[in-house]
Amino acid sequence: MSAGEESKFSLFSKKKNQSIDESSLKIPVHLGVIMDGNGRWAKKRMLPRSAGHRAGADNLKTLCKNCGHYGIKYVTVYAFSTENWSRPDSEVHALMELFVEYFEKYDPELEQEGIRVRFTGDIASLPTNIQEVCKRAEEGSKHRTRMTLIVAFNYGGRREIVQATQKLAERVAKGEIRSDEITEEMFAQHLYLPDVPDPDLIIRPSGEERTSNFLVWEGAYSELWFSDVLWPDFGMNELTEALVAFTKRDRRFGGLTKEEKKDRE
Ligand code: FPP
Repeated sequence: MSAGEESKFSLFSKKKNQSIDESSLKIPVHLGVIMDGNGRWAKKRMLPRSAGHRAGADNLKTLCKNCGHYGIKYVTVYAFSTENWSRPDSEVHALMELFVEYFEKYDPELEQEGIRVRFTGDIASLPTNIQEVCKRAEEGSKHRTRMTLIVAFNYGGRREIVQATQKLAERVAKGEIRSDEITEEMFAQHLYLPDVPDPDLIIRPSGEERTSNFLVWEGAYSELWFSDVLWPDFGMNELTEALVAFTKRDRRFGGLTKEEKKDRE
């Protein structure tokens, strides 16, 4: 189903105990997801944190399927932040291994779902084997058009803004542009993925209510939705609840609603 199309499905919302008419849902073009709570999920089961990350990676496949069902075109997931290097070496190593394994092992499934893969973050600073995995996954999936999965890896919103500033400063130094010519639009063109629309909705499970350096520039006007469910357990019911909440939001981007504008006429 794509945005705006009629759906034959009717899901059952666990929380509100009512059936949902999917065709009434407003579908975000771009959804951001902060995959949080893997460690707590593992702790509850007396498992090592790496098992939580593995369960989290498995759930990413579920998220892709569910977003595909709703016709969401771009999904950005926060998989490794610029701050995550401060975790114990063993955990960083497990996450890197999982990353390599994921894109090698699951590519046929991503292909089947028509999912193009892209990466956002300071990729050039990653170990060369990880950079190669990124290049292979991007090249091999370029032709897929159903949905784009963007994996934020070694990503930090502040670093992204600093790196965009450096690129612009270099252009000024070379005399290509004047500093007073820099606009918000030009700035955005120097971010990691300038062709991708800003996220409409950002979801964070696990009970934390902050965005933790995720899509700082791009998310300036994103709707935020939080859930207590831990990431590995975040399924179709939770995604649907988020979409129901998003449908009810009144996005004004600092302006007025259509109704408010009419009232003023
Ligand atoms: C935060 O949960 C999660 C991470 C830092 C890693 C997210 C990574 C994955 C879901 C899997 C890897 C992804 C790919 C693409 C292979 P946390 O560990 O901080 O959880 P906690 O707050 O409960 O401790």
